[in-house]
Amino acid sequence: MTNNTNTPKKLWGGRFSGAVDPLMDEFNASIKFDKCMYEADCIGSIAYAKALAKNNILTEHERDELVRGLTQVMEEWSQGQFKIQPGDEDIHTANERRLGEIIGTHIAGKLHTGRSRNDQVATDMRLWLRETATQLLAHLKELIAVVIARAEKEIDVIMPGYTHLQRAQPIRWSHFLCSYAWSLQSDAQRLEQLLDRLNVLPLGCGALAGHAFKIDREFLAKELGFRDIIHNSMYAVSDRDFIAEFLFWANMTMVHISRLSEDLIIYSTSEFGFVKLADAYSTGSSLMPQKKNPDSLELLRGKCGTVFGDMTGFMCMYSKLPSTYNKDLQEDKVPMFDAAHILSGSLQITAGVVNTMQIFPEKMRASLSADLLATDLAEYLVRKGVPFRETHHISGAAVKMAEDQNSSISELTLDDLKSIHSSFEEDVKSVWNFETSIENRDTPGGTAKSSVLKQIQLLKTWLSSTKHH
Ligand code: ARG
Repeated sequence: MTNNTNTPKKLWGGRFSGAVDPLMDEFNASIKFDKCMYEADCIGSIAYAKALAKNNILTEHERDELVRGLTQVMEEWSQGQFKIQPGDEDIHTANERRLGEIIGTHIAGKLHTGRSRNDQVATDMRLWLRETATQLLAHLKELIAVVIARAEKEIDVIMPGYTHLQRAQPIRWSHFLCSYAWSLQSDAQRLEQLLDRLNVLPLGCGALAGHAFKIDREFLAKELGFRDIIHNSMYAVSDRDFIAEFLFWANMTMVHISRLSEDLIIYSTSEFGFVKLADAYSTGSSLMPQKKNPDSLELLRGKCGTVFGDMTGFMCMYSKLPSTYNKDLQEDKVPMFDAAHILSGSLQITAGVVNTMQIFPEKMRASLSADLLATDLAEYLVRKGVPFRETHHISGAAVKMAEDQNSSISELTLDDLKSIHSSFEEDVKSVWNFETSIENRDTPGGTAKSSVLKQIQLLKTWLSSTKHH
């Protein structure tokens, strides 16, 4: 070997004579963060050993030795016994080094025949993300189940609905909850779709040009549970679109969680007092003894920004690369791992918060005021045959009259109302009922009880149909 004797031997060291700057070694290494892919790396290698044996590049004995060694490497990792050595640049080289120690370098050295770390790492990442995204999907569905269970239980609770953060119209609390369940459902569908798209095999493509030993890639795909092989070796080693998609999914999901958090933070202020977080998801102040802060929700809102950084950092890196593998691609890992880690925590914490928070239906109801029925007053006149554009104006005049009188719109007398428009009659009193207003909105998608129950039913049906994905 021509390597400097002080530095450990590199797997790619054959053509190098000078030592690598130790700082460069550290800079180049990804083992600190890519070691979490140890299982994918071993599983991929086991399948690869089998494929090589199938083509008589390995004997059956060699294959069995490789499988035995790789299984042991995997166990050492999972039991926390794997010792990373100086020179273990990344998970692929670390595993190969250890494999050589266990079964001898003569056989271990045959495993990489026709394989490059380029097709290897692309395969590992797809395997890792497939596993992780499947777990995230389960957390996401659990969160949706928690939200709709609450919506069903609290179907009779009514509150103001807001636009521009100004009270707008009476709604069911469950309608508000379901609005987030639908956003989360689209997140779940997006994740299912990207899981399907990423499930294609890069292995067997070599460094960029393909495999010189007629490896059976269909066999590899089957062994590793991929639905197809990737049909272009250059594309196989350079494509990271699945990470971009995953990061977008993570961002979109965090946006929904962050917006829900923002609503709940506002609803939990004493000015609103609609909800109170369980102690399990709140913390106190180090100075002010009376404080109970919604830290869980603030962290969820804050972490949305961190995940956004993961995506933008990745996209900047990815956008500038020429064809096939470039070392920049090593920077794809931290954003993917980080976003996955944040999403796992966030989905579970959000489910916990929603499941345990207390609501105050009487406070919600007390925040309803008759002016929220101004639209209903206009609709009353529509039912009497007055064109809506006029009724809008008339109801506005009633709002103004009440304001001038310093009273509530529901306290205007029939004479007051008649002075604005002659179509008002005795039955106008029926307008001043929040439940009636809500129940009038009984078309699909509306806030009436039947419509909200329908939504809950649709979401439940979807959940049970996709449970065992
Ligand atoms: N650690 C590398 C990465 O994550 C593995 C691939 C290295 N390939 C290479 N041609 N240097 O991207």
